Amino acid sequence: MRHLAILGSTGSIGQSTLRIVESYPERFRVVSLAAGHNLDELFEQCHRWQPRVVSVADEPLADNLRARLLAAGVNGIEVVYGSAGTVHAATLPDIDFVVSAIVGVAGLEATYAAIASGKTVGVANKECMVAAGEILIEEAHRRNVMLLPIDSEHNAIHQCMRGGAKQEVRSIWLTASGGPFRTTPLEDFAEITVEQALRHPTWVMGRRITIDSATMLNKGLEIIEACRLFDLPPSAVKVTIHPQSTIHSLVEFIDGSILAQLSVTDMRLPILYALTYPERIPSDLTFDMHSLAELDFSPPDLFRFPCLRLAYEAAELGGEHCIALNAADEIAVEAFLAKRIPFLAIPRTIEQVLERTPRRHPATIPEVLDADSRARATARELLASDQRV
Ligand SMILES: NC(=O)c1ccc[n+]([C@@H]2O[C@H](COP(=O)([O-])OP(=O)(O)OC[C@H]3O[C@@H](n4cnc5c(N)ncnc54)[C@H](OP(=O)(O)O)[C@@H]3O)[C@@H](O)[C@H]2O)c1
Repeated sequence: MRHLAILGSTGSIGQSTLRIVESYPERFRVVSLAAGHNLDELFEQCHRWQPRVVSVADEPLADNLRARLLAAGVNGIEVVYGSAGTVHAATLPDIDFVVSAIVGVAGLEATYAAIASGKTVGVANKECMVAAGEILIEEAHRRNVMLLPIDSEHNAIHQCMRGGAKQEVRSIWLTASGGPFRTTPLEDFAEITVEQALRHPTWVMGRRITIDSATMLNKGLEIIEACRLFDLPPSAVKVTIHPQSTIHSLVEFIDGSILAQLSVTDMRLPILYALTYPERIPSDLTFDMHSLAELDFSPPDLFRFPCLRLAYEAAELGGEHCIALNAADEIAVEAFLAKRIPFLAIPRTIEQVLERTPRRHPATIPEVLDADSRARATARELLASDQRV
């Protein structure tokens, strides 16, 4: 029986995780849940899963949830809030597996705390790996803690890596669907709307990651995440556009063999793999081999998707540049979703923030969070200023 903390339980990954728990009640038990603002969903989850601890974004939300639980006669759940609450939810002594699926750096402290207290972590939150991957990996080595990727591409790489030794790997190939604008004429990019950008061709995901897929910044974050998780230089992490999203990623070995992982586009599969690793257990997630009629691959166009180029540049520089890449994107995506800036201002904002970022390598989580705040402030200033970003 695995005892779980699910950080980001109300989100897309969190809900997929709970669907797995539902399917395998004899294997998993929910001990704690953490989320942000979606009290209706969290209340339902508390009712259904009776966690011991539940964390929300702030104190008024915690008071509200406590009152609702009391009124509904649901007792025995400790309601906490904020970063300290998420850390508490992630580090309870009886938890042995933490699903890190809060979006953005809001989940960073709890992910670090989970590792530091010896929990196995299923990593969905790529922003944490991008902002503080070096620190998280070092702590995981020190504590002998496993970090199991839930992001489908990294999960696929993890599976393919079982086919050879680390020193036998030549490179890895992350597949990318190319998003909704893979073939859109470049002259139409200036007019891209929020509604168009939210229409991902193959995956249903949270709003930020869906926009990041449309700009391909998501793939850029994945490049950095892969460098960290698999201890590879950026030059060994390649991207190929594969619109069908059937092959989730590939590993190329030194003898020229390439191993690929194929499956349905359903996040329950990588989550289940991480939750049961190193075991594989039966599931109802089957793949129709005859749907493999078309498998297209092409190199990414870095002119069309400047975010990918910016991510490679940040990956080479490391440290604060990776933090700034993620932070600037988060602010720019928020502004785009609020319809305050056009689609093309997202890469422009990131580029300008990166140009203003010093070459430094934060060594602690507070230093990472400081660098993150500075990059956010710069992005906000740029967006607020008269100059066109
Ligand atoms: N969705 C996918 O298929 C997918 C695939 C690969 C990787 N990922 C990664 O997994 C992570 C989650 O993605 P998602 O698609 O599940 O996102 P999502 O649907 O937007 O969910 C985000 C979760 O984070 C919570 N959250 C936000 N701010 C918070 C805060 N300040 N404190 C505590 N919780 C907070 C949200 O809570 P509320 O909703 O209650 O505010 C929600 O539970 C991201 O890092 C994403 O890049 C996702």
